[in-house]
Amino acid sequence: MSNIEKTLSIIKPDAVERNLENEIKKIFIDNGFKIIKSKKIKIEKSEAEKFYKVHETKPFYNDLCSYLSSGPIIVMMIEKANAVLDNRELMGATNPKEAKDGTIRKKFGISIDKNSVHGSDSLENAKIEIDFFFKD
Ligand code: CMP
Repeated sequence: MSNIEKTLSIIKPDAVERNLENEIKKIFIDNGFKIIKSKKIKIEKSEAEKFYKVHETKPFYNDLCSYLSSGPIIVMMIEKANAVLDNRELMGATNPKEAKDGTIRKKFGISIDKNSVHGSDSLENAKIEIDFFFKD
């Protein structure tokens, strides 16, 4: 039985700004992910608010949305078996200080806000988040 999944990954402004796009993409590829779609965009704060709506009651919501819309980001649809969970493993803990060695956030993350990458947290949200950025 095939459990090939697609998930959404975002390379956040702090990593794009430091020219880490290719290095981070190589990590995905070296870990068995196919990058099916990728585009560099800059979003409005209103779009970030829609994207992160699930966090709208959190105290960090406003800063989070300002941050995601503060500079260019790379949005990617990536694919492999167990992509959703494997991507979360590869990213590491939300707070880079707690992320394990070998994870993207441990290697590149600066702070809990500037944590370099976002990844969908469930298969259901992966579909929603892929549609958000890639629906034609
Ligand atoms: P991300 O995976 O993009 O999902 C929501 C983001 O909110 C998260 O990464 C963090 O960058 C940011 N964030 C800021 N403060 C917190 C917090 N206290 N808990 C969780 N996420 C936070």
